[in-house]
Amino acid sequence: MSKLSRRGFLAGASASAGAIVGASAGAWFGSDQAATAAELKAQTAVLKRKEKFTGPHQNGIEVELQTFTNFVAFDLAPGTDKAAALRWMTLLNDDIARLTQGDPTLADAQPQLVLGPARLTVTVGFGPSLFSKLGLESQMPESFKDLPAFKIDALKPEFSGGDVLLHISADDPIVLSHAVRRLITDSLTFASVRWSQQGFSNAQGVVPHGVRQRNLMGQVDGTDNPAFNTDDFNNLVWIQDGPSWIQGGTIMVFRRIAMQLNTWDQLGRTEKEQVIGRTLDTGAPLGKVNETDPIDFDARDKNGLKVIPDFAHIRRAHAHAPGERFFRRPFNYEVGVSADGNPDVGLLWTAYQRNLDTQFIPVQRRLEQFDLLNKWTTPIGSAVFAIAKGVQPGQVLAAELFA
Ligand code: HEM
Repeated sequence: MSKLSRRGFLAGASASAGAIVGASAGAWFGSDQAATAAELKAQTAVLKRKEKFTGPHQNGIEVELQTFTNFVAFDLAPGTDKAAALRWMTLLNDDIARLTQGDPTLADAQPQLVLGPARLTVTVGFGPSLFSKLGLESQMPESFKDLPAFKIDALKPEFSGGDVLLHISADDPIVLSHAVRRLITDSLTFASVRWSQQGFSNAQGVVPHGVRQRNLMGQVDGTDNPAFNTDDFNNLVWIQDGPSWIQGGTIMVFRRIAMQLNTWDQLGRTEKEQVIGRTLDTGAPLGKVNETDPIDFDARDKNGLKVIPDFAHIRRAHAHAPGERFFRRPFNYEVGVSADGNPDVGLLWTAYQRNLDTQFIPVQRRLEQFDLLNKWTTPIGSAVFAIAKGVQPGQVLAAELFA
């Protein structure tokens, strides 16, 4: 195919944007000039996909993993009171409404980087410290508080805590980077960045719709999660009582959990499977065939030993009461490798629920006592955020909290 300049191609096609899309993405991919933002905008399936900003719940939770993510936590600036916090939310609300639909923010310094929505979501939450700083303790959802210390924790302040969280995810890293920068820039009058932690999942198109992904230990992760758009999910995740700003919201537990992959890799396949209680191949419970087969915790092998060991992760984590479950949405992280070849990897592990006391905390208490997985994993960051309910058109996110 002959090499056309972009200008020549446009002239030849006497092109409207529509003609460019329909005619030949290939023509300008072959050209020696970069496509302009307008030409590129939302032309591919990955860029076009859009998540709604308005609705009963914030976006970014009941949605399949995006490929790239950034959790950004802020501390309030000394002068930020309730009125300033409301102004901040008003600004963010406008930014998020535009960015999630693939549009630049007002006075966007880099509109060229707005390539399309790319399933961008932004979820906003508030840490316990925000409520005490602003005297809003009466607005906290039931059970909401800093997590207790767990004996497996080796927490670092640079990965923990925070007054306000913006959790931003998208299927394209440039779209994500642009959104993160705009949101941070518009926040700096009101707060400073406390930490920012980046993660990823599989590229779009790699894992078929609805299929669970693997974490960096190689395990199928997320099997025993409540399914989207079910009563089970609604009842476990979305808060239905308490202050009105949180009705339709949820509580997010954030944990940065490091994996010791060098020693993990020294285990044989059978040992690795016993640590979790599921096969590496399909994710089926040990003794079963398919990933979603029910777990049989009573099964014994021919020697009379439990098929799923006493201290296997799923046995210890399995709910002791019907409501003692939550929605897990972990992203991987990888930030380099040490001189001895040990990668700095793990999970930016999140769990969403209505009540910390009856959902996350009892499960984490059991896991801190005994869980084979603890030998190869270490929580090094931790935070908890109350996630405001969704926003209706014309309203401002969390306005009722700061009114
Ligand atoms: C690096 C850390 C972790 C890894 C690699 C990991 C991995 C896994 C895997 C592979 C499964 C089986 C598949 C599934 O149902 O998702 C699982 C299940 C589960 N995990 Fe984890 N997990 C980690 C941390 C945690 C933490 C911190 C908690 C809660 C405090 C937790 C709670 C659960 C629960 C509730 C299940 C489902 C158990 C059941 O089948 O009833 N996990 N995890």
